[in-house]
Amino acid sequence: MSKILITGGAGYIGSHTIVDLIENNFTNLISVDNFSNSSKDTFDRIKEITGKDVKNYNVDLCNLEQTEKIFEENRDISGIIHFAAYKAVGESVEKPLKYYHNNIESLVNMLKLAKKYNVPNIIFSSSCSVYGNIDKLPVTEDTPLPKAESPYAYTKQIGERMLQDFLKISPNQKAIALRYFNPVGAHPTGKLGEMPIGVPNNLVPFITQTAIGIREKLTIFGNDYPTKDGTCIRDYIHVSDIAHAHVLALQKLMNDKNFPQYDVINLGTGNGVSVKKVVDAFEKVTGKKLNYEYGPRRPGDAVAIYANNQKAIKVLNWTPKYNLNDMMLSAWKWEKNLQQANVN
Ligand code: UD1
Repeated sequence: MSKILITGGAGYIGSHTIVDLIENNFTNLISVDNFSNSSKDTFDRIKEITGKDVKNYNVDLCNLEQTEKIFEENRDISGIIHFAAYKAVGESVEKPLKYYHNNIESLVNMLKLAKKYNVPNIIFSSSCSVYGNIDKLPVTEDTPLPKAESPYAYTKQIGERMLQDFLKISPNQKAIALRYFNPVGAHPTGKLGEMPIGVPNNLVPFITQTAIGIREKLTIFGNDYPTKDGTCIRDYIHVSDIAHAHVLALQKLMNDKNFPQYDVINLGTGNGVSVKKVVDAFEKVTGKKLNYEYGPRRPGDAVAIYANNQKAIKVLNWTPKYNLNDMMLSAWKWEKNLQQANVN
């Protein structure tokens, strides 16, 4: 059975991907996560859902020596799914070097070791933030990448470029970069989900924390945009759909000999949904009235961005299974479980 290394396995998307891998018979998994933005409990939660223990190495991927020990101990790795990275856009503007150091150095080390230890298949977490503020919608993968809007987005552009340069001198490796739109929601059991540290920057955790009473009210950033209801439009995609796309991408690299050495694929539903619609869906499916108000625009926000997801559908044979109501309901279930866990 192929051994797969997941970096950032305790993280939001990493943990859901581990569950999906196990459900698709990839049972020989190892994770590297130093819990810099995640919790050790995640592996207990994964076990509750799947019945499987996943070995995690508590190692900083920027430490080449310690990371190499993992590859020495596990000489039969046939795929790496590289999630581990910092991801807060605002923080990246305030602490750019933290982002450049962590996100770039860890990828450099991972690629060095993939080559040295002959790991053939690599999946890389990228982001729709590589497209910046874009006018032509929906966004296709061949859209030229503009100057990145933030250090975070730039680390993803650099990561994609690094992969391409690396592959030119590495005929034994293949890679797919997956560009996520707005991953939201939680595992349908409510046992896994997003665990923001401190005040959430992202919309959905802010909504669920407000509904449960951790935050007083949600501010909708701007209702004077040129959209139907005046609020911004995004492509919200269920985290379990994102997770499953990683399994399909890995299988593609492993099984399709004719697949190109490098490809990049958008992961979104293809639907543009406004902030107000997200709030309405949350209220509808949970029956809870959300305390919210309209406030000023958030600097740097794009009016609208959503994916053309035809490539993922065609190339990976992937279809998003979950709709906006599922996203809200699972996120809410998770928030309630978190509260319960904190009470006990
Ligand atoms: C950001 C990142 C993206 C990343 C995503 C998920 C950019 C350009 N994009 O997307 O790369 O994949 O986070 O981590 O930075 N909103 C409110 N009130 C809130 C919070 C958000 O109204 O309290 C609105 C925002 O103005 C936006 C929408 O909700 O219109 C979504 O915001 P957010 O969840 O932060 O994601 P993005 O900014 O789209």
